[in-house]
Amino acid sequence: MCGIVGYTGKALALSPVLEGLRRLEYRGYDSAGIALVVKKGEPLWIEKRAGKLSNLEDSLADTHPDAHSGIGHTRWATHGGPTDTNAHPHLDNEGKLALIHNGIIENYVELRAILEKRGHVFKSETDTESVVHLLSDARKEHKGDLAAAMRDVCGQLRGSFTLLAIHSDEPGRIVGARRNSPLVVGVGDGENFLASDVSAFISHTKHALELGQDEVVDITDSKITVTDLSGKVLKPREYEISWDASAAERGGFPHFMLKEIYEQPKSIADTLIGRTAGLDTEITAGINLEGISKVVIIACGTAYHAGLVGKYAIEKWASVPVDVELASEYRYREPSVDKSTLVIPISQSGETMDTLMAMRYARTHGARVFAVCNTNGSTIPRESDAVLYTHAGPEIAVASTKAFTAQLIAMYLIALHLGSVRGVIDKKFVSEIGIELAQLPAKVEQILETVEPLRELTRKFKDSGSMLFLGRNVGYPTALEGALKLKELAYMHAEGFAGGELKHGPIALIDQGTAVIAVMPTSTSPLYEKMASNVQEVKARGAVVIAIGDVDLESAAHNIRIPSSHDFLQPVLAVVPLQVIAYEMAVARGNDVDQPRNLAKSVTVE
Ligand code: AGP
Repeated sequence: MCGIVGYTGKALALSPVLEGLRRLEYRGYDSAGIALVVKKGEPLWIEKRAGKLSNLEDSLADTHPDAHSGIGHTRWATHGGPTDTNAHPHLDNEGKLALIHNGIIENYVELRAILEKRGHVFKSETDTESVVHLLSDARKEHKGDLAAAMRDVCGQLRGSFTLLAIHSDEPGRIVGARRNSPLVVGVGDGENFLASDVSAFISHTKHALELGQDEVVDITDSKITVTDLSGKVLKPREYEISWDASAAERGGFPHFMLKEIYEQPKSIADTLIGRTAGLDTEITAGINLEGISKVVIIACGTAYHAGLVGKYAIEKWASVPVDVELASEYRYREPSVDKSTLVIPISQSGETMDTLMAMRYARTHGARVFAVCNTNGSTIPRESDAVLYTHAGPEIAVASTKAFTAQLIAMYLIALHLGSVRGVIDKKFVSEIGIELAQLPAKVEQILETVEPLRELTRKFKDSGSMLFLGRNVGYPTALEGALKLKELAYMHAEGFAGGELKHGPIALIDQGTAVIAVMPTSTSPLYEKMASNVQEVKARGAVVIAIGDVDLESAAHNIRIPSSHDFLQPVLAVVPLQVIAYEMAVARGNDVDQPRNLAKSVTVE
């Protein structure tokens, strides 16, 4: 949830480190800092500021430190508020060793007590500072070998971490380590990078190395060594990054979120490429799906809503029971799991700690794990038996949009594959759905060409105190997702309900002028009339209804038309207006669209 960057090479380090932090700011942004090795053996050069990265940049405006290696950090606070003192990097008491950290050190209190007894003086409230003092002692024990010291320290830590450290005795050297938190190596020409994700260095190199659990990486401008905690040298997986630098830029849009909403025709098409024709091969290479008696989808937030849609498709097309679980609840109720359970973690980032820990619980109890993920080489797919990567490209805005619709596509593909493997559906059915899926990009394109009236409509409700969302069948998780988008972006109370549930209590919320968005089933669905009755029920009590559907609903005050589709595929279309409404509401309210308050793009703590 924090941005981590390290640079060593021919350039002056401040610029590539700052550039990397700018690209990672979406990961966490309540403070930022940089440490550089300017003079061998002297105290490090360091600057850190609370608040957005721009505060740090302003403080660095006229400085050009003569340093060729350094580390930088953007923070999403877990221990200790967002202050200058709590910002990373943290220093040892000599000011010659600096450390940055992403994650949570669970045993930092006991470590701090031991270290204070040894005479270390703490300045911050963070868990991280315990690590830098521990590392300082370990470095002395290992006669100045920073990598050996890092291996020693990692063996003493409990919790999750990405760590980077530099010492002024060794200009040009950076040592890093990871456990349950992302760290990738960028391999340059006469320069090397370390970062939380590839977008930090993508404009310099597309050649990356993947680091595994409890591995330590030791880099200079010309050498990269990876070891396990015993010091055994490892050969990390190398890969070429498929994204280009512009893919991580705004591309002319005012916000990443709007760019990513408009990228959905492409991200849906990319996620489908080569996956509907040869369904019985590519999808689940590496996992045996024989003898599966139950599917459990685990996820958080928007990914959880994608799982709820997946439940309908998998149960119908594969005739297998599906539970959809909030990852943060799952493992703590100790559910029964065995080898006949197929667990599907859904995660855009592949680093969400709640989902990772729930997946590990299921795996240790014998489940087979088939991940759906958007980030190549991230932790969740690396620890799964198989992975279906969505190809949505980098999703920079904190609010998930294109990743969500890509996750829906992945759900349909898995449902079709499972149904085929279990002999429940035939190739004819698969190809019929394949044709419907292939039409989705053009249908989303069509919706995006008619969003202008949505902007006008949104402004009518910009001062509403709350907004309710109704849906039935797959429209219900779509309603939940619409409510989440509005909460995240407009900071407005919003709630999604199953249409049939309203009369069991929530209808008491309806008052004169209450704004209600109805996600209508396709007009050919047997549920259409039932949903139309739910709209009548709320309208009769004063609600102003906005209906999203493939035909106009007479009782609605406003109709947003979307193309018709197979019932189960309708969420891919209906969610687009909901994303745009949330976006426009955020803009109308003057909120920070891409980095909403209190949120982070990837929540890598439990
Ligand atoms: C979605 O708009 C939110 N940013 C959040 O709910 C997110 O979907 C959730 O944190 C899961 O993230 P993941 O997909 O990276 O695991």
